[in-house]
Amino acid sequence: MNPSLRVVVSRRIFPDLIEALQRQFVVVANQDDHAWAPGELAAALRDADAALIAGGERVDEALLAQCPRLKVVANIAVGYNNIDLAACTRHGVLATNTPDVLNEATADHAWALLLAAARRVGESERWLRSGHWKRWTFEMFNGADVSGTTLGVLGMGRIGRAIARRAAGFSMRVIYHNRQRLPAAQEGGAQYVALDELFAQSDHLVLVVPYSQAVHHIVGAEQLARMKRSAVLVNIARGGVVDDAALVAALREGRIAAAGLDVYENEPALHPGFLELENVVLTPHIASSTRATRTAMATLASDNVRAALAGQVPPSLLNPEVLGNRRR
Ligand code: GLV
Repeated sequence: MNPSLRVVVSRRIFPDLIEALQRQFVVVANQDDHAWAPGELAAALRDADAALIAGGERVDEALLAQCPRLKVVANIAVGYNNIDLAACTRHGVLATNTPDVLNEATADHAWALLLAAARRVGESERWLRSGHWKRWTFEMFNGADVSGTTLGVLGMGRIGRAIARRAAGFSMRVIYHNRQRLPAAQEGGAQYVALDELFAQSDHLVLVVPYSQAVHHIVGAEQLARMKRSAVLVNIARGGVVDDAALVAALREGRIAAAGLDVYENEPALHPGFLELENVVLTPHIASSTRATRTAMATLASDNVRAALAGQVPPSLLNPEVLGNRRR
């Protein structure tokens, strides 16, 4: 253990992962998992060398200016829109994320949401649990077909491709849109289409695009109006990619059939309209949440911290331009 290196872990993680870090570093762990009061995280990081953080923690100029010893922030998430990378680089701080290890679990969850929304799983279960099932009827919960339809993927990165691979099992045609078309070898048979066409042609559309200002409300009233009335929209990307108020209106008015959502504009607060609707399946930002995947994510974040504090290049460094002026 190196008593001069302090590592802060901002959320409760599995105890064995904390113990592994404690074998090497002085660890300040938030194992009671309290929410950080304003300024409290910065205070905790003031004399820290490294931080393992979740996507809910914002790392920006104001925080970094208060943390002169900080050498690395390791997001336990693949998305990193909570981290101002340019500010990290200015301060000589390495920033890392957890790509790849969550691809399969996250793709599975996208399919769970798609199938649950299309086949009205949440709605029919609520109905059954509240004692309404007296007699089987022919028209009970007729849902939308998934097999044999067209799947749209907005954001055909590593997770998008894992989602698209699963579509083969449902005999689906896959179309996608990215800022740039992928090399054919990475398309896996999916067809590149313009953004407008993606909305118009998808029978079901999954959003996996990383959040940035450029994609803020990329799904709003206009795009929802282009979608098929029978379509299901799934968002496992980030809150803000969808205009939640516009989606509530579209679902309420039956302009699309249903939605499956894991992320929200102001999470953990939800647009209250979602809670009143039957045709939306809601999960609390858990797409990567299997025990094995969460272990792999925190292990990769820990490995990023170990490498950074040993003066090496972390396996998933986001701002390699920092290496010339990294803090020692
Ligand atoms: C979860 O949202 C992640 O970015 O890993």
